[in-house]
Amino acid sequence: MIREETGSEMAKKMWGGRFRKGMDKRFEGFSSSIAYDYKLAEFDLVHSLIHTRVLQENGILTVQEANRINAVLEELLKSIKDNRFKPNLSAEDIHTDIQNRLEKKIGPLSLKLHTLRSRNDQVVFDEKLFCGFEASMIGKLLINVCEVLLAQRRKYSEQPFVGYTHGQRAQVILFSDYLDAYFYMFRRDVHRVVNYTESLQAFIGAGALAGSGLSRSSYERAIKDFLRTTPVYGKIRPVVNSLESVADRDFVIEFLGLLSIVQMHLSRLAEDMILYSTQEFNYLDLPEEFCTGSSLMPHKKNPDFLELVRGSSGRINGNLVSVLTILKGLPLAYNRDMQLDKEPLFSSVETVKEELTMLKEFLAGLKLKEKVIEQALTDETLYATDLAEFLVLKKVSFREAHDIVGRMIRYVEDKGMRLSELPDELLISFHRALNQKEMQRIINPFNAVASRKSISRKAPKI
Ligand code: ARG
Repeated sequence: MIREETGSEMAKKMWGGRFRKGMDKRFEGFSSSIAYDYKLAEFDLVHSLIHTRVLQENGILTVQEANRINAVLEELLKSIKDNRFKPNLSAEDIHTDIQNRLEKKIGPLSLKLHTLRSRNDQVVFDEKLFCGFEASMIGKLLINVCEVLLAQRRKYSEQPFVGYTHGQRAQVILFSDYLDAYFYMFRRDVHRVVNYTESLQAFIGAGALAGSGLSRSSYERAIKDFLRTTPVYGKIRPVVNSLESVADRDFVIEFLGLLSIVQMHLSRLAEDMILYSTQEFNYLDLPEEFCTGSSLMPHKKNPDFLELVRGSSGRINGNLVSVLTILKGLPLAYNRDMQLDKEPLFSSVETVKEELTMLKEFLAGLKLKEKVIEQALTDETLYATDLAEFLVLKKVSFREAHDIVGRMIRYVEDKGMRLSELPDELLISFHRALNQKEMQRIINPFNAVASRKSISRKAPKI
């Protein structure tokens, strides 16, 4: 029986023998994934290069046959590395595209490559190597950001800064404390990325769901042989449980979760810098090349880069929830639903990479407006806690000290005065240890930061 080709322009399928009718054209487009899964091409070729070794060892391919297939696979791999590979968008997916190219080059011999393996097995393998590679790239970009934070820390090492809680002025800190806070967040992200890549295991030999008839040791030897010449990010192992192997997308969710945490850090930093660069705060001068103007208001310098970073949280968190939802309730083993994990995965990876790459440049161009900060640090309420702690050192209980300073602040507010203006006779009436000389020592940003001894201000290391 001849098949009716309703989707006749589409490239050859890897299935179809049992079908009388061709695919509905709309469904063909709906189900195709080549437009995005071409990103897996390199890793799919790795799967094939290991697989030909297994087939050869088991006599399914002769040495010459395996060599002929491998030569084409290697050539394709090279074209990807040289950026020459253009996916054939009429193929159903990248696995089919590669199979079709092979057939074009070497004819019917190519049809032996798919012996004892399935796209179900290939796709999860490919994605794991992809995740390992991209996680390592993101780790490097995070380290770059950490390095810029360290450089800025060196530049502003002695610069006092206003610390906030609840968005209200709280206590004096150093600007380097502030930078270090983000350094430590991003360094934790680096550790998460490293743990993640170390935990990745890409399995081979799962077949469609039930494994293949070839021994685990021959897979083991093929993997070893391949890895001797070609290192990959992540480990490759013979499959243990084939069902869980083809059905597993935990590693996608874990990666997306990790990226959501990175994104949350990026978004908090962006929000801080948006606030600090408003005219109301005015502490920061943002690099112009990452700002935009207004089409209407000539004076505007808008922090669009930071806003887009903050706004990307919607996409990144959405991608995580998307894959969690796709996986929820999927029966074992492979289901086509799983194909839909790729766009969210690729989207989060691309977005975070772009953000981190630009953030490095952005942070390098960031400048402090020291005069404005100096002015803000003359707000004497920033030293209220230091004043209370001074009284504690004079043996006053902390609650009582808190109350005394509270009353002092109420007093100066009522009188429209400053704490540093209170004369000795008045200060003594609040507590006998208080006098103008002590007040001047306490109400000083450098002394305030120096008095914070519990924290380490050693330059952190990556
Ligand atoms: N493009 C598919 C995916 O990404 C590959 C697996 C297709 N397997 C199948 N039995 N239809 O999941």
